[in-house]
Amino acid sequence: MNTYPYDAVIFDLDGTLFDAEDGIVSSVKSAMEQMELEVPAEADLRKVVGPPLRDSFEHLLKVPVDRIDEAVKLYAVSFLEQGMFQYAVYPHIRHILQMLHESHVHVGLASTKPQGLCERILTYFGLAHFFDAIVGETNDRATLGKPELIRRALPERYELAAMVGDRCYDMEGAKAAGVEGVGVSYGCGGEQELQDAGATHIVPDTEALRALLCPGGDIPRGFFLTMEGLDGSGKTTQADLLEKSLRQFGFTILRTREPGGCDISEDIRHIILDTENMEMCASCEALLYAASRAQHVHQVIKPAVERGMVVLSDRFVDSSVAYQGGGRELGVDTVQQINAPAVMDMLPDATLYLAIDHTTALNRRLSASTPDRLELEDGEFYERVQKAYERLIRENKKRFMVVDAERDIESIQKDVLTATLNRLEPEFRREA
Ligand code: TYD
Repeated sequence: MNTYPYDAVIFDLDGTLFDAEDGIVSSVKSAMEQMELEVPAEADLRKVVGPPLRDSFEHLLKVPVDRIDEAVKLYAVSFLEQGMFQYAVYPHIRHILQMLHESHVHVGLASTKPQGLCERILTYFGLAHFFDAIVGETNDRATLGKPELIRRALPERYELAAMVGDRCYDMEGAKAAGVEGVGVSYGCGGEQELQDAGATHIVPDTEALRALLCPGGDIPRGFFLTMEGLDGSGKTTQADLLEKSLRQFGFTILRTREPGGCDISEDIRHIILDTENMEMCASCEALLYAASRAQHVHQVIKPAVERGMVVLSDRFVDSSVAYQGGGRELGVDTVQQINAPAVMDMLPDATLYLAIDHTTALNRRLSASTPDRLELEDGEFYERVQKAYERLIRENKKRFMVVDAERDIESIQKDVLTATLNRLEPEFRREA
């Protein structure tokens, strides 16, 4: 049974669930440019975020009154084509919605955006399934008004409800609808505006919002995601891009790598990869990788997953199986045994494999940076590594997501993100 204070919580969209600034500003800019009107400086453009769009076009941007309909139309097209994809879910929001939803709190949305657009945005960001009611305006003119939107988003029966929003309209609407107003000062309104509008509570950030709405609630377990591939497969580039996208979707990310990821393990990394250490035997190498992994799991990976984070690790135990088990010919079983005490119960929830042939990988490496000790190995070594990876994939079909990495960066990036989102949040697939 939940002990949360509200049994119904209604959210505003822009500035509350989403950082909407870039998306709105770029769409306004595009509309102004298409109308061949003077586009104000970036700082002035940012003032359009918050007030109703028609008002902004008229008063802030000085669009002639007879051209406002045209401006709103062009804005809408541009917003659908690119603006909404520049939205970013604020950190912790995903957890808050999930925790409320799982505790059977009624979750609603009341936005002055058109209804269809609200649904589209929540669906694209994989949040729609947390909502019991999504209510927006019926067209682009705010005809229903905030109090009515809130009323429609509320359930038939509730004991104590709250409207969460970043603007005075949200707090005034809450009062008119007879529910508490929770003001979030991280959005467009700021503390003074929310206070003046009679907010019941004001929170400075989404962590405080979680504490207010879900006190004492357990944060859902995070996710352990690893990236694997031959040296030269473009792993690090793709990990950078994936990290950025996942943050935009509202996941709290901890990015790390192996060997390394914490001080002790980074020290071990240095010993392993140092080209001075050419006499290192295969067993020593395998044990050092495992030792560095043990500390990494204990100090970084496990605690972060328990805190609800998505841990994105550039390499993990599969690298040892492929490189030491296959490449160094120590054997898969031996390497898995060595690693058992290091990995404990922290096997990855999913693993991205960037598939590239070892000969292509070699050519890429030759034209890149100075090689480390492992990268000095010959073609046959990498052929064995590739074979070992391929066997791992065959034996762990459910865990591995294989992406063809012999293409351009954007195509790979798209596939990497889609595959990852489908695993992180199965609802993405359902909603797509
Ligand atoms: P990586 O950090 O991917 O190299 P780079 O920074 O050059 O992209 O990995 C370092 C090397 O260590 C790489 O050649 C793969 C190898 N390796 C193993 O042989 N076994 C392991 O368990 C791990 C984690 C890496």
